[in-house]
Amino acid sequence: MYKFLKTENKDATQSEIPLFLHWLDHPNNSKHILELGCATGFPIAETILSIGRDYTGIDLSSEHIEMATKTFPQWKDHFKEAEMLDFCKNSDSESFSGIISMFSIRHLPRIHHVELFNEILRILEPRGLLLVDFPQYSEDGRGTWFANLPMYWSSFSEEWSRLTLKELGFELLETYEDVKIFNGEEEKTLLLLYRKPE
Ligand SMILES: C[S@@+](CC[C@H](N)C(=O)[O-])C[C@H]1O[C@@H](n2cnc3c(N)ncnc32)[C@H](O)[C@@H]1O
Repeated sequence: MYKFLKTENKDATQSEIPLFLHWLDHPNNSKHILELGCATGFPIAETILSIGRDYTGIDLSSEHIEMATKTFPQWKDHFKEAEMLDFCKNSDSESFSGIISMFSIRHLPRIHHVELFNEILRILEPRGLLLVDFPQYSEDGRGTWFANLPMYWSSFSEEWSRLTLKELGFELLETYEDVKIFNGEEEKTLLLLYRKPE
């Protein structure tokens, strides 16, 4: 059903994760989809756009957005350079049926995380779905990522994140632990599927 294209050295199996496919096919998520931190659009944006879904992917990095628009010129209008909190604040209430963010919210300074999740709740439709990953432990630091661009991160623990989303009103529907071997080491990613209440 889904087409995969290896355009760069990224994890092509990200869009094969069962919880991602469940979120994408879920009846509550049949309208406009937003991705926060879409990077170069592979493989998540490509998977969503190739089945004709209404999708907007935003990323802070002009280099990533430029690469996304060059790799997928047919979908260039679906990619926007924007900061995630600003973008959410400037979006209308209840405008997305699904929001996804993978490995990206941890790059927003954690002092803004509660505000961001509150905004996500506001811009999701009632019963709309959020798919997100949480790091297991709280951490912060700096390094480089794709194309040697500088990268900073600061996150809360999984436990704190779960408690916070519950307090904000999100309903946890499902979790999935994605386990991969990376450079000979086991790497685990916890994905969580949340629903906005009616
Ligand atoms: C580690 S990458 C993950 C990219 C992709 N979601 C994936 O899973 O491969 C984090 C991405 O988040 C973007 N990013 C970091 N802070 C951001 C912010 N405040 N607003 C929007 N994008 C941001 C970065 O430019 C980068 O493309």
